[in-house]
Amino acid sequence: MLDIQQIRKDTPGCHDKVFFNSASSSLVTQAVADKMTAYLLEEQMHGGYKVVQAYVEAIQDFYTQAARLLNCKDSNIAFSYNATDAYAKALSSIPFRSGDVIITTDYDYISNQLAFLSLKKRFGVQIIRAENRADNSLDIAGFEELIIKHKPILVAVTHVPTNSGLVQDVETVGELCSQYDILYLVDACQSVGQMVVDVQKIRCDFLTATGRKFLRGPRGTGILYVSNKILRENTLPLFPDMCGAEWIDSQHFKIHQTARRFELFDRSYISVIGFAETLKYINHIGIHRIAEYDQQLSQQLRTLLSKNEKIQVLDRGTQLSNIITLNAVSKTIAEVETHLQRNNIYYSVSKLNTVPITETTRKEQFAIRLSPHYFNTPDEIELVATLLETI
Ligand SMILES: Cc1ncc(COP(=O)(O)O)c(C=O)c1O
Repeated sequence: MLDIQQIRKDTPGCHDKVFFNSASSSLVTQAVADKMTAYLLEEQMHGGYKVVQAYVEAIQDFYTQAARLLNCKDSNIAFSYNATDAYAKALSSIPFRSGDVIITTDYDYISNQLAFLSLKKRFGVQIIRAENRADNSLDIAGFEELIIKHKPILVAVTHVPTNSGLVQDVETVGELCSQYDILYLVDACQSVGQMVVDVQKIRCDFLTATGRKFLRGPRGTGILYVSNKILRENTLPLFPDMCGAEWIDSQHFKIHQTARRFELFDRSYISVIGFAETLKYINHIGIHRIAEYDQQLSQQLRTLLSKNEKIQVLDRGTQLSNIITLNAVSKTIAEVETHLQRNNIYYSVSKLNTVPITETTRKEQFAIRLSPHYFNTPDEIELVATLLETI
């Protein structure tokens, strides 16, 4: 059982509102805010380079805590500025050539799809999107056929899409990639922090995450996981800097032995310190327990909403995440928004240009996205569900 009272005490932002928006940018704890403020004040007095020397251990803790959460070693973790930055760095390490195939899914995040399209434009890579079955799960047999037929250079799958509630079976895809020896990149931006994400089970080469969502970290932070295989093969990002590589002479450089070869020298250490603190907090509580509680919250909300004829829940899939997407049957999004805002409910709106490709075939233009997390309570779920009955 989670100590919800203590968790809420640690989270000042959750008391004066119902905050159901962790899929956008969640609430940091008091300890995170305190650590970051103290660091900033030291920078104010001494300048950044002096302060960082006194925080070596606290900064190292970011790698230790991230590795613990993802079940890998510190050496597999690189700090990034957000999930997309981590994703771009991973892609930049792949030597794409004309005709190379990337297999991805219709549910992959739009920014990832944009990166693939850009690769297509510059290098002439082909993008193939695997089919989903009627229940929206990935057609694994079809996926394998695509792999055999196209011998892709890369398979890229988003674990939990930005909306639609779906959880994609990244572990089974990982088995295929390892069987056929194909590079495997997983976008875990919306899954890390709300469910157990174990890179050993997923067997990916790269995995990307952001700090500000279900991890409850500060903005401007992210994680890039890099497998031992990638490290052993001396794969490096297209543009390493003096953090990721060591300058030897005018013709040579040596790359960093760890995933830090994917990092750039400068970053906001204020944010790194805050990120380390939030990761420590999650590890202390235990991601298994958070995942279990989050599932209870989302199941409770979906069950209550299913009884409400005024609401249409748009989620798809057999295994569902903590992202609940909905519309009001006979009200506009603006009207739903007014209703939620008047009652101090925090939510987000998913617009058509940010949703997965499959969602663009829907007739709805927008949807409301609710994303409760482990500082929320069953009472809050009930309150929001009741409120949506009076819409
Ligand atoms: C599934 C998914 N992947 C990637 C991203 C991009 O994350 P970031 O803005 O941290 O780069 C998002 C953001 O909403 C997302 O939902």
